[in-house]
Amino acid sequence: MPIDPAARRAGIMGVGFSVPEKVLTNRDLEKMVDTSDEWIRSRTGIAERRIAEKGTGTSDLGAEAARRALAQAGLKPEHVGLLIAATTTADMPLPSCACLIQEKIGAKNAAAFDLGAACAGYVYALVVAEQFVKNGVYKNVLVVGADLISSYIDWTDRSTCVLFGDGAGAAVVSEVKTGGILSSVLGSDGRYGDLLKICAGGSKRPASAETVREKGHYLQMSGSEVFKLAVRGMVDAVLRALAKAGVKKEEVACLIPHQANQRIIDAVAERLEFPKEKIFVNLQKYGNTSSASCAIALCEALEAGKIRKKDKVVLTTFGSGLVWGAMVMEW
Ligand code: UT7
Repeated sequence: MPIDPAARRAGIMGVGFSVPEKVLTNRDLEKMVDTSDEWIRSRTGIAERRIAEKGTGTSDLGAEAARRALAQAGLKPEHVGLLIAATTTADMPLPSCACLIQEKIGAKNAAAFDLGAACAGYVYALVVAEQFVKNGVYKNVLVVGADLISSYIDWTDRSTCVLFGDGAGAAVVSEVKTGGILSSVLGSDGRYGDLLKICAGGSKRPASAETVREKGHYLQMSGSEVFKLAVRGMVDAVLRALAKAGVKKEEVACLIPHQANQRIIDAVAERLEFPKEKIFVNLQKYGNTSSASCAIALCEALEAGKIRKKDKVVLTTFGSGLVWGAMVMEW
C-alpha cells in the first residue's frame, strides 16, 4: 500500500546504549574451552564481548540505555507513555523487565510490558511502538532491547559460548512530521523452534535438580541450520520492506543487520547485492547481544557519522522462534 502523506508518522527521536565494562576476549575463551582466537575470528568475526558482573540484571543495562536515549531525545522520564522492553532474559519471571526499568528511570506515567521476540525483539518492539504513536494513543514510546544472555550460556560449550555478549540499546519513538519509519516487515516460523532454545525453566519444565543436572537452563543451538535460515529470513524481510516503502536498495545509505556472525552478514550482502561498505558492523566488539544487537549498532552507526539527516536506513533482525523483521526509515 502506498504511504499516505496525510497520516501521522512515527520516527526515532533519540537512541542510547549500555554495555557492561568487563571484556571477555577470544584469548580468555581459549583458557575456558577448546577453541582459538583464529577459529572465532575466522568463523564469526568476533574478537571480544562484554559480560555483566554477577548481580547485574538486564534491567540495569536497560535503564542506563533508556536514560541515554531520553537525554538524546530531550525528554524527561515522565514524558514516556509506554515502555516496551524487548528481552528474553528478564531479571526474573515476575515482575516484567519493563516495569523494573520504568521504576529505575522514574517513568511514572508509562504503561510497561515485555516483548519476547529473542534477537529480533528490537525491530518487533519498534513496530509495536510505531502503531501506538501513529494511532495517537501514546506520544512517546520508549523501546529498550536488552539481554544478559551470558546468564543462559553453558561456559563449557564452545559451540555457543564464543558467540554471545551482554548489552542494551534503547530508542524513543515519537511523532515526526516527515520521514521516520517508512515500512516494516515481521515474520515467524515456529516449525523451527527447536533450532535455538532454552528448554527448561518455563511452565512445561520448571527448574528442578534434574533440569539443572541436564543443563536444561542453557541455550542450545543448531548453528549451521540457524545460519542458513537467518540469511534467508533477513534477505527476504529487507527486500519486502524496501518494496513496501517504495525505496530502491541503491537509495539506502546504511544497512544495520543483526550482529550474529560476519559470515551471515556477508551472505546477506551478497544475496542482496548490497555494497559491504554501507553495512554497519560492530560484532567484533560485542558478539551477538540478542535483542540489543541492532539497537547498539544503530547508536554506534550514528556516532560514527554513517547516518545523516534524510538518509534511508534499514534495520534487519533474526532470532529464536524463529522470528525475523526489517524496517526502513528515513532519518
Ligand atoms: O542470533 C541468532 C542466532 N544465532 C546465530 O545466528 C548463529 C548462527 N550460526 C553460526 O553463526 C555458525 O553456524 C557458528 C559460528 C555457530 C558455527 O559455524 P559453522 O561454520 O556453522 O561451524 P559448524 O557448526 O559446522 O562446526 C564446524 C566445526 C565443528 O567441528 P567438526 O565437527 O567439523 O570437527 C565444530 O565442533 O567447528 C567446531 N567448532 C569449534 N571449533 C573451535 C564449533 N565451535 C567451535 C569453537 N572453536 N568455538
